[in-house]
Amino acid sequence: MCGIIGCAGRKKAQEFLMQGLKKLEYRGYDSAGLAVLNGDELKVVKAEGELNKLAEKLNSRSLEGSLGIGHTRWATHGIPSDENSHPHQDCQERFALVHNGIIENYQELQEDLEAQGHTFSSDTDTEVLAHLIEEIYEKDMISSLQKLKEKTTGSYALAVIDRKNPGKIYALRQDSPLVIGLGEKENYLASDMPALLNVTSEFKILEDGEMAVIDSENVRIISADNQTVKRAIFKADWDAEMVEKKGYEHFMLKEIYEQPIVARRILGEYLDEYQVKIPELNDIWDKDIERIMITACGTAYYAGLVGKHVLAELAHLPVEVEIASELRYQRDFLTENTLVIVVSQSGETADSLAALKKAQAKGCKVLAITNTPGSSIARSSDVVINIMAGPEIAVASTKAYLAMLIAFYLLALKLAELREELSRKKLAVHRRELLRLPEKITATLNRVEKQCQKIADYLKDQQSIFFIGRNLDYSLSLEGALKLKEISYLHAESYPAGELKHGTLALVEEGVPVIAIMTQKELAPKTLSNIKEVTARNGRVIAVVSGGIITSQEDLDEVIEVPLCNGLWAGVLTVLPLQLLAYHTAKILGRSIDKPRNLAKSVTVE
Ligand code: M6R
Repeated sequence: MCGIIGCAGRKKAQEFLMQGLKKLEYRGYDSAGLAVLNGDELKVVKAEGELNKLAEKLNSRSLEGSLGIGHTRWATHGIPSDENSHPHQDCQERFALVHNGIIENYQELQEDLEAQGHTFSSDTDTEVLAHLIEEIYEKDMISSLQKLKEKTTGSYALAVIDRKNPGKIYALRQDSPLVIGLGEKENYLASDMPALLNVTSEFKILEDGEMAVIDSENVRIISADNQTVKRAIFKADWDAEMVEKKGYEHFMLKEIYEQPIVARRILGEYLDEYQVKIPELNDIWDKDIERIMITACGTAYYAGLVGKHVLAELAHLPVEVEIASELRYQRDFLTENTLVIVVSQSGETADSLAALKKAQAKGCKVLAITNTPGSSIARSSDVVINIMAGPEIAVASTKAYLAMLIAFYLLALKLAELREELSRKKLAVHRRELLRLPEKITATLNRVEKQCQKIADYLKDQQSIFFIGRNLDYSLSLEGALKLKEISYLHAESYPAGELKHGTLALVEEGVPVIAIMTQKELAPKTLSNIKEVTARNGRVIAVVSGGIITSQEDLDEVIEVPLCNGLWAGVLTVLPLQLLAYHTAKILGRSIDKPRNLAKSVTVE
């Protein structure tokens, strides 16, 4: 959702900013721009389209200067165009600023500013900030940013440079992420840490309402009430290599194939033969907790649906799952006796963060399942399970989803133990089974890739693709459908297998693909009956099954078999062919796999 980058240092800013923008591209890729200061000379270059368009525009130019800011955009207000790209400037072209987020009262502000003589050249909400700073600037930028905060509503992260104060970048964070990277006689600013891993692993994270002044020697953080803040250094355990493609054609494929390592890493951290180790859970868990509410968006929400089944099954607790953007405005029944679990790869999703804050206001304890321990969601939660998937660059989430499922498995076992719902013997069996998952993930990937490639060749020509499953399999099928539509742009929907006949079956005719998931032994015969409803209409059935679950392949046009494992854990194996089907279909169709149209990796606006 828009990426911000900045540097104040010794090296040529233009090159650094372009490299940083490349790393931030997954946050937005419909236009990009940069501003570089050399003494009091301020140069701004911007271009609609992917980053190479900006590179082409800069081709013959070399901007002198070692201080600058850059931006990659995911349009909210105003179409992608050169004019609407950031940085934006005021009438005098004294300031240049980049912004992530939304200024909710921009129209009102724009009317006032126009009445005062300001002329606007874009359709964005951002430009209003440049003119507002021009209007309110008196003695220094920090007091101007304080005033700007008072006058604006919305959530945003902002970086500003000023021709009359060269050598400094000013930043402001209001509900949208910003991190400061610390270097040797050089400091940096970015929307997230991966963008800066090639230059530093040491960060200072800005909190809401805080401002910062960054120059090559110093970083000063200023609180909302104007006090200098002493912020501890956050050391990232990711490194620059983790954000490279390493010979894979796409980040998505690399991330799919990283899944055995990811599973091994998270299991290694939280589990051994004798116990599940989430010691912090003991601090917040008490016997009065009566129910669990899981909240998240997109793929993380679908991981939550799987989590619901596993938690209910093992810990015997009532569990609800609600999409965060719904929960935040819903009449809810959250009480101090509800444990709220927020799931988020990035830890910065605006809706998930808002749902978390609502839960905390109701007195709930919050547990975060996230890939980003330094994120807003992690920092605001009482307990964090770090899924340790490493940086996920492809917009379509794969390895983070798998690691989220494993986090739920671990949590369910831990709660089953704390609530004394399972015997020691059963707990031990489950733990041993979990420890065997990484090798089964490897075996599945080796087994299914070619077959998925072949099936993708059929899917690519279809108008609509349906996914069905029951209970846990239905939750998995939702993720399969999202993955496929997200990167192939084909219409894909998922239904509980028993629900197809209540309407959607009308769309099934000759050749229409229905992908049926069957990993739950007791439910497979039921799903097989629903499959008969499909074959009777000449639909084409592709079954994704756990080995040995079905005895006959009658009615099935294709069978993708994953290794047999306890049905509760089947999700981490079944999702693999679903990811590969999506990947190969999108690849045959020539889609932009890592950066699908209209989407961005980290959704920091509402
Ligand atoms: O960072 P988060 O896990 O909070 O992100 C939530 C969704 O935006 C994300 O899962 C999205 O649905 C993915 N692009 C799906 O592949």
